[in-house]
Amino acid sequence: MNYYYITGTSQGIGKAFAEYLLKDSTNKVIGLARKQSIKHSNYNHISIDLTHIDSIVDFKFENHSDAKKIYLINNAGALGEIKPVGNLTSFDIVKNYTLNLIAPSVLTNSFIKFYTDINAEKVIVNMSSGAAKSPIDGWSMYCSSKAGLDMFTRVVDAEQKIKSKHLKENSTTGFRIFSIAPGVVDTNMQIEIRSASTENFSRLNDFIGYKENNILAEPKNISEKYFKLLSNLNVIKDVSFSIKDYE
Ligand SMILES: NC(=O)c1ccc[n+]([C@@H]2O[C@H](COP(=O)([O-])OP(=O)(O)OC[C@H]3O[C@@H](n4cnc5c(N)ncnc54)[C@H](OP(=O)(O)O)[C@@H]3O)[C@@H](O)[C@H]2O)c1
Repeated sequence: MNYYYITGTSQGIGKAFAEYLLKDSTNKVIGLARKQSIKHSNYNHISIDLTHIDSIVDFKFENHSDAKKIYLINNAGALGEIKPVGNLTSFDIVKNYTLNLIAPSVLTNSFIKFYTDINAEKVIVNMSSGAAKSPIDGWSMYCSSKAGLDMFTRVVDAEQKIKSKHLKENSTTGFRIFSIAPGVVDTNMQIEIRSASTENFSRLNDFIGYKENNILAEPKNISEKYFKLLSNLNVIKDVSFSIKDYE
């Protein structure tokens, strides 16, 4: 069996990805989100708020003795308040970094710790964003947490490459890790962006235009692209990239 731990499966890209995987009966999905919207015999939902430090720290991965593949897809994320720094709520800053950066870092650490001695294809995918690479006013927490996630991913990749020299001497396989930006996708996150005000976010009209001009990708199509790319790990030469780089 193949096991996919995916955060944020209640809607958007995470839900579409889970549903795509569930079409194949050899895949099991363990979804982590506050709400549940998928019911399927191969889907197990874990109700969790990934802004709660204790819940993230206490989360336990399971033993899967028949696993051929075990994936962790850190997909859950949010923009947080769209406002310039100085006008943000302190608590929202803490919550947003916890969801976008601390939760994926803690889960990645637990995942590597728990599955180190398991012989399977072990992959971590962090959901990045173009916002990691360019400063967007009103999005300080989002841009910086995604930039942090990219760098975290690159460090883990570097560590795994160093470790892999040693791993050749024993039977287990190492971990692959990627941070992949999906491009602009038609989800509730985009609705949230379009409901910001121009005084807090100068690029509002660009994002309204993406919707009006049908530039937004469908979550289903993006999930399929991620799946196809991840089905052929050997072609992936980068660690942190956009899915568009492989189209
Ligand atoms: N859409 C885009 O254009 C776009 C572009 C670049 C990158 N991304 C990235 O892609 C990922 C998915 O985005 P999306 O557009 O699919 O967003 P979305 O439709 O808003 O869905 C976000 C998911 O994250 C989960 N989530 C949010 N807060 C959570 C919390 N406190 N605890 C647990 N889960 C939580 C939500 O589940 P619950 O509410 O049920 O908890 C939901 O399932 C994000 O990391 C986002 O940054 C999206």
